[in-house]
Amino acid sequence: MRIGLIGIGKIANYQMQAITHTLGIKLTDAHDLDPVKSEELPGSVQFFNDFDQMLKKSTADAFLVSTPTGTHFEVAMKIIEADRVAIVEKPLCTNQEQMDALMTAARTRKLPLYTVFHPSYGREVDWWREQRDAQNFDLGELIGFESCFADPYYIDGKLTLGAIGKAGAWIDSGISSLSVLSRLIDVGTMSVYDGRMTIVPSINCAQLQGLALLSFKSADKLGYGMIDTNWTLGKNYKTTRLRYQSGIVELDHAKEYGRLYLHGQEGLTFNLATDKPRLVNHYCGVFANLTEMHSKGEDNKELSEALHRLLFDALKR
Ligand SMILES: NC(=O)c1ccc[n+]([C@@H]2O[C@H](COP(=O)([O-])OP(=O)(O)OC[C@H]3O[C@@H](n4cnc5c(N)ncnc54)[C@H](O)[C@@H]3O)[C@@H](O)[C@H]2O)c1
Repeated sequence: MRIGLIGIGKIANYQMQAITHTLGIKLTDAHDLDPVKSEELPGSVQFFNDFDQMLKKSTADAFLVSTPTGTHFEVAMKIIEADRVAIVEKPLCTNQEQMDALMTAARTRKLPLYTVFHPSYGREVDWWREQRDAQNFDLGELIGFESCFADPYYIDGKLTLGAIGKAGAWIDSGISSLSVLSRLIDVGTMSVYDGRMTIVPSINCAQLQGLALLSFKSADKLGYGMIDTNWTLGKNYKTTRLRYQSGIVELDHAKEYGRLYLHGQEGLTFNLATDKPRLVNHYCGVFANLTEMHSKGEDNKELSEALHRLLFDALKR
């Protein structure tokens, strides 16, 4: 699979490393509004100053959109309207109307559209899926969860450099948490019943903090969960706790740890980190999944629609 990269920023560096570790995928072309960014590319990659020229001339099978969140809709729509395939960093876009327009445009042209949900490929998430499916621990049914995705993007009353390119705490991290949960819970049974967003008009972002309360079905019973996204805690803290009848599973997405607390027993910690950075591990999972889907002519439109609907529902509550 040949990839054209659009936006050579912070995340693109991890994506490029992961591409070199994944069989069956190759970076062939790239474009950024800032031509200086071409210096970060390997010599084998062709840089285009002009996006329209890239869409016309590139032989890439698909274009990976890694530009700031607020530009995803416009850039992805341009790719689709050129009858080419878009692979878009999460979040796909910033409101329901944009999502509907992108999905309609891709479906009308019978084009795949893939959203990149990198946090859902965390090694700790894969670890717990394997343990659960192999029934290695007897925890009973899942009854609830709490997930916190915090980044130090608001310090001393100001947004930090890390916030550049992001839309807001809920828009950027709510989708991360939802994508992790979708690999552990049937997303079709999930619904949002409350959303609480902290919006400060003088601070240039959509939300400084956002919280959603959700319900889901587990073994025909209703379970409840909470997602808290927060830029004001001053720390990189990303953890999902799954509460089962007989214990708790804690997935530390920042440290790549899994922890298991069976009621009445000592906790067990599993360090799942590798010699590669956490984000490279995530994108190795993304690209393995992407190349597999591409070879079968599949995409993740339905998953993306379901997750973004929950994301935007929380904004309306
Ligand atoms: N930084 C992270 O940790 C991280 C993690 C996962 C996902 N993401 C997502 O990836 C996206 C990019 O984030 P980033 O941190 O790499 O941002 P960044 O600001 O570091 O890089 C964005 C790049 O896109 C270029 N650009 C801006 N508008 C463009 C346009 N219209 N066309 C072409 N190039 C354009 C900029 O010049 C810049 O080089 C965001 O949506 C973000 O949510 C970021």
